[in-house]
Amino acid sequence: RIDGIIAKYLDTGRLSKEEIEFLLGLEDEADLQKLFALANKVRERFVGNEVHLRGIIEFSNYCSRACLYCGISRHNRHLSRYRMDVEEILEAAKEAVGMGFKTIVLQSGEDPFYSTSTITRLVSQIKAMDVAVTLSVGERRREDYAAWKEAGADRYLLKFETSDPDLYRRLRPGCSMAQRLQCLTYLKDLDYEVGSGIMVGLPGQTLSSMADDILLMRKLQLSMVGIGPFIPHPATPLASAQAGTASLTLKVLAVTRLMLPWANLPSTTALGSVDREGRREGLLAGANVLMLNVTPLKYRRLYEIYPAKAEVEDDPTALKAAAVELVTRLGRRVSSGYGEGPKAMGIA
Ligand code: 5AD
Repeated sequence: RIDGIIAKYLDTGRLSKEEIEFLLGLEDEADLQKLFALANKVRERFVGNEVHLRGIIEFSNYCSRACLYCGISRHNRHLSRYRMDVEEILEAAKEAVGMGFKTIVLQSGEDPFYSTSTITRLVSQIKAMDVAVTLSVGERRREDYAAWKEAGADRYLLKFETSDPDLYRRLRPGCSMAQRLQCLTYLKDLDYEVGSGIMVGLPGQTLSSMADDILLMRKLQLSMVGIGPFIPHPATPLASAQAGTASLTLKVLAVTRLMLPWANLPSTTALGSVDREGRREGLLAGANVLMLNVTPLKYRRLYEIYPAKAEVEDDPTALKAAAVELVTRLGRRVSSGYGEGPKAMGIA
């Protein structure tokens, strides 16, 4: 059956929900290699051999949300909280730009301490360093997104985490999927390059719901999709849940590449955290982006969304050197451009 599905995909560029579910259920090693090889080929054909490096600054671990899976949920009392001030954030950005990063990602918990105008100021000052700016600060008002776009922000990451509405409600008390999708629509209307994504292996998640997730990503015509395994955090209600596997994460990543051939897909830190070879395997199963942590080391381990996060101890220079080494070893190139996605290229 797999050969038939691949042949049909190569012919039409399409997969039905049943076919996606079938691919996500593959277990046979030879079949998996066929899926990953196809995703790798599609990646090469559509987005080429360049790998884009992004420098991510996790500038605050305060969060007003109460997500059951997340280590920086407001309910976690065992965590020291930090907020970087504007000067510190700009300093970290400057250092990353000096190292050659062409995209700076600003990420935090949902922390209303940073006002619309504070983030506007950050965006315009970092834009002045001649880089692309990606924001990932959660659900905000349309006006906020508009102000930041006006200030020069290029991209926005807001994962929908799961498209199963019941699971979503259970895992994200006080939030609604409708609201999340509304935010994604605002961002798209405002002409951001929009990124979203999911966790793989959440308790209660099924292959059917992950197939729906992938279909939703395609419907949203996302420019970027982040896919990582769920990793249980001891200070959360899901402490004793099973972690998502690298193998299932790679399957979801590969099928996402088939369904969004132009997208920028990171081989995620979470994938590298459940499997030593995870990031390399991701790059061979459809991914073309690496996001490297450039948060000052003194804050790094406090941004503990999940435990045993890779790279909590490596300084940005060492991380960059390791990434370049990995990319080169795979016969690929580190991009020297901004690495814009399909929206900016006028395709999607
Ligand atoms: N395991 C893996 N990923 C997680 N995230 C949050 N909590 C966890 C966890 N326990 C991911 C979510 C979020 C991103 C910043 O981190 O997908 O969007």
